[in-house]
Amino acid sequence: MCGIIGYIGNKSINSILIVGLIRLEYRGYDSAGIAVIDQGDLEIRKEKGKIKNLEDLLKNSPVEGNIGIGHTRWATHGEPTKLNAHPHIDCFQKIAVCHNGIIENHINLKNELIQKGHLFRSETDTEVIPHLIEEELLKDPNQTIKDVIPGLIQKIEGKYAIVILSEQEPDKIYFIKNGSPLLYARNNEEGYLTSDIVAVIPQAKEYYAFRDYEWGWITQYELHLFNKDAQKIIPEIKEIKIDPIHLEKGNYEHYMLKEIYEQPDIFRKILNNRLGEKGKIKLNEMKLPNTILGRISRILITSAGTSWHAGIVGKLYLEHFARIVTEVDLSSEFRYRNPIAEGDTLVIAISQSGETADTLAGVLEAKTRFCKVLSFVNRLESTIARESDSYIDLMAGPEIGVASTKAYTSELIHLLFFSLYLSGIKWITNKEDREVLFSEIRKLPTMMEAILEKSKQIQEIAKIFKKTKDFIFLGRYFNHPTALEGALKLKEIAYVHASGYAGGEFKHGPIALIDENIPTICIAPKSSVYDKMLSNIQEVKARKGKIIAIITEGDKNISQIADYFIEIPEVSEYLSPILSIIPLQLFAYYSALERNCEPDKPRNLAKSVTVE
Ligand code: G6P
Repeated sequence: MCGIIGYIGNKSINSILIVGLIRLEYRGYDSAGIAVIDQGDLEIRKEKGKIKNLEDLLKNSPVEGNIGIGHTRWATHGEPTKLNAHPHIDCFQKIAVCHNGIIENHINLKNELIQKGHLFRSETDTEVIPHLIEEELLKDPNQTIKDVIPGLIQKIEGKYAIVILSEQEPDKIYFIKNGSPLLYARNNEEGYLTSDIVAVIPQAKEYYAFRDYEWGWITQYELHLFNKDAQKIIPEIKEIKIDPIHLEKGNYEHYMLKEIYEQPDIFRKILNNRLGEKGKIKLNEMKLPNTILGRISRILITSAGTSWHAGIVGKLYLEHFARIVTEVDLSSEFRYRNPIAEGDTLVIAISQSGETADTLAGVLEAKTRFCKVLSFVNRLESTIARESDSYIDLMAGPEIGVASTKAYTSELIHLLFFSLYLSGIKWITNKEDREVLFSEIRKLPTMMEAILEKSKQIQEIAKIFKKTKDFIFLGRYFNHPTALEGALKLKEIAYVHASGYAGGEFKHGPIALIDENIPTICIAPKSSVYDKMLSNIQEVKARKGKIIAIITEGDKNISQIADYFIEIPEVSEYLSPILSIIPLQLFAYYSALERNCEPDKPRNLAKSVTVE
């Protein structure tokens, strides 16, 4: 939700900021802009729409310099226009500010500033910041921005990551962080500020993730860091370990397709790392001791979007394998419903980005109730990873496509592993039982590849239904979440209305929708609820509804009834959601292409939702 970058070094600013913004574009693409000190003057370039438009503008109206800040926007306050694009400036264009988050008290602040004669040019909440700085600096000409930041932090309310560039201080970029992510990164010759480390690799080699209310400035070689009380902090700089290969599209047309196809290899890596000798599951980074894990009497899972769907599968795993009562809550609900979370309750937060504002709020809420928090995150430098008592690394590699794919299956397998790990601690499964499970789990990468080979067939089906306006997705038990996730993928990237239901609920309402225009996608691999799904399919058929079925290879019953079917390899039902989602990811992807939608950057969405 908005991406920020700042750079000081010897390189030409344009390419650095543009490449960084392209990498951050998944966070929002309503508008983009940069501010650069060009021969002593603060120059601003901004444009509505994707970074490409800003690039075109820079070709016609270039800027030069070695220090600058940039922003890609997901609009909160004010329409996605050029005027509302960041950076925002003070009255005299001496101070430029990029911001990610929301300044909640901006209306009052703006009114006060207007009364004092400040000239506002946009409808954004952000614009109060350069004017507040300007106002304070006017009071005493000997002050610099460092002198006014502590007062600014007192004045502004809300969540923010802010970077500030001033014509008067052309060798520094200031920053303030509270709530929204912001990191410092560097190599021997350059300093960066960024919302996400992916924007600055492979150049930057080390990083520090700022904590709330930290502020300061960077120069080309140094970071000066302070806390809210203006006391100096010595940052703990860490090495960046992300492989830049993940950031390239390779031969794929879109990141989403690449990420779908990466799943078998990611699983190979995960299985190599997690499956030990003699039924042992290795979760080395997970620091919660067995004395705590063995006492857990209840688990609360909190997550959003795709990660929420993973949480529903996780509940089934935890109850099935570890026999622990588990609840799953949307993180946006969890934080406001005064959850009963106490004593031996373990709170699990699932988040690909590790930055989702609602999920983070749930983590902090759980901590105030003295619950242990374990997060499942794909980004180890993220705020959720840091705020949790411990984390499990999803090991999917950076996910760039806005619609989550590889992170989802990585969430599922790790939730399964954690459930099996707990079941070992509680003596519910022994090593031998787990070895039996492992032998099937080891086949998953090859099974995934077999599904990916059917992509042409899936593309054909997407073509046939390219004009269809509504879809129903049905699944049961382990595949009820698959129905929800399959429907979400289609909504997100192909802008088609799609609803997922549990098969058993179908007759309680949704069946009224069925006619020849609304196809039903039935996820019906061989399982303990296979017969029930078969009945659902018959019910749709009887009402002239078209059926696209996801079935187990060789299933003659459903293949004869369904209008279209996609086969997946035969697998235990608890592993089936890991496989059955893959054809639906591809179906959504090809449906988006058929409808001329851009799968990597769907309208109105952002990959990392860092505001409420
Ligand atoms: C956004 C993204 C979704 C994602 C959700 C949760 O809405 O568009 O793809 O599933 O956030 O993200 P998280 O990073 O917490 O898993």
